[in-house]
Formats: sequence, structure tokens, C-alpha cells
Amino acid sequence: MNPYYRKTVIGGNWKMNLLPSDVDRYAEALIGSIPHPCDAELVLAVPFVSIPAAISAFSGSGIQIAAQNVSEHSSGAFTGEVCAAQLFDIGVRRVIIGHSERRLYFCETDAIINNKAHAAIFGGLDPIICVGESAEVRDTGCACELVAFQVKSALSGISAQALSRIVIAYEPVWAIGTGNVATPQQAQDMCSHIRSVISGIYGSAAAEAVSVIYGGSMDENNAGELLALPDIDGGLIGRASLSPAAFSKIVQSSEKALKQFGGI
Ligand code: PGA
Repeated sequence: MNPYYRKTVIGGNWKMNLLPSDVDRYAEALIGSIPHPCDAELVLAVPFVSIPAAISAFSGSGIQIAAQNVSEHSSGAFTGEVCAAQLFDIGVRRVIIGHSERRLYFCETDAIINNKAHAAIFGGLDPIICVGESAEVRDTGCACELVAFQVKSALSGISAQALSRIVIAYEPVWAIGTGNVATPQQAQDMCSHIRSVISGIYGSAAAEAVSVIYGGSMDENNAGELLALPDIDGGLIGRASLSPAAFSKIVQSSEKALKQFGGI
């Protein structure tokens, strides 16, 4: 992290877990255990059906509620889809785009992800765009090339002004849900590489200001070490975010790391 240049973002991703009726209990436990105020931006991405309950339960807590997906279209005959304007209308301001589970199980291509980024920005939502390589790609030594391609594709046609609303999440597919967290060196190297790719498109000042976060088996035991690294500006946390106690410990690690930067 580097709070002098960019914000720290700690995001939870519930995926398709927990019920709308679980939200109140979860919120009470989390709000009661995180520091107030928090210097990091805290975001919780919950399933669509839990968003209204979560917005109400976390109101005034400083924790933003995000969606896990958004349509690439702005309205129309797209049964089962949810568009950015609908999410904005109920109070959502952030959305995860291009998660590897969406790429893998729902055939989301880099072109669709780019369309979704444009749709989100246009509809008032700030995207968290996920990129990351599979184990096979890492084994062939092409991880940097693939991630660079994913970043460039996702940001195609996005203005420098809109870039300031985007967070990039580096989530190696082999680390997601496996307990097989990237080493600090692997995570730092790829987050730094992503920043240099962004610098190549928008210039170094814009790249220094973009938050690049890490996701993939981040938990309460490894978060402190990862968040202290210079190019890792936060985390996107799946499994560990299902437990308010574990998620709160990750938030506390990030606050501790931020304090070590001189009381920011
Ligand atoms: P995980 O998921 O923390 O369970 O590995 C991270 C993610 O998919 O965002």
C-alpha cells in the first residue's frame, strides 16, 4: 500500500453464499468489530438479492455495498440480467467485473468485460476489475503477458478521468478458493507489473494513483504481510469474508499497516 498516492481498498466477496436473512446478524458482528473510522475503503459485494438488506444494515457504517456483476447492456430485453442504472437506483456505487468465476463459468470474454466496464462507469458504478492467470498459464511463463492483455482489454476506451474510479484486482485463478495464496513476491511482482501496464497507457502519475489489490486465499493470517507490500493496495476476499470475525481481522491488519505509514 501507499496511502500517499492512492486509497487502500478492502473488499469482501460473498459469491453465492449466505441468505438475505443472514445479513443483519453479519452486519451487527462486523460493524461491532472493525475500527471506526477506518482509513481503508471497505466494500462488501453480496448477491443481488441481499443488496437491499445489506444497504439498510450497513447504512452509516462506512461499509459500501457492491454488486458482484452487472449487465453489459443499459436496459432492454435481457431476461435475468441487472443493469448499472438499476443498481445505482437502489444505492449501489461499486461493482466487481470480470471475476475469474464469471470468465470461466459464464464465458465472459475480455470484450464483454470491457463492455461491462463502460456500462458500469456510464451508469454511475465504480468498477473493481479482476484479472489473473490460471496455473497452466503461469507454468508456461506467460502470466505477465496474459495479465497485461487482460488489463489493456478491460480498459480499452476508458478515459483517464474514468480510470480514477477503477480498482484493479489481481486474482491468480490458482489461488482463488484453494488456500494456495500467492507468495508476497508473486503478488507484489504482478501488482507492480499491472501498474507499469497502466503507466504505459495513461502515464506514470495516473498509474501511481490507481489502487491495485490482491485476491486469492487472502485471510486473517496472511493479510498483514501482503498489505504491507508497496504495490498491493488492498484485498478482495472471498471465503474469509464469510466470517465477520475473519474479515474484521483483515480490516484491522490493513489499518495497522496504514498506521505504519505515519499516522495516515
Ligand atoms: P478466496 O476468493 O478469498 O476465497 O480465494 C477470492 C475471490 O474470488 O475474490
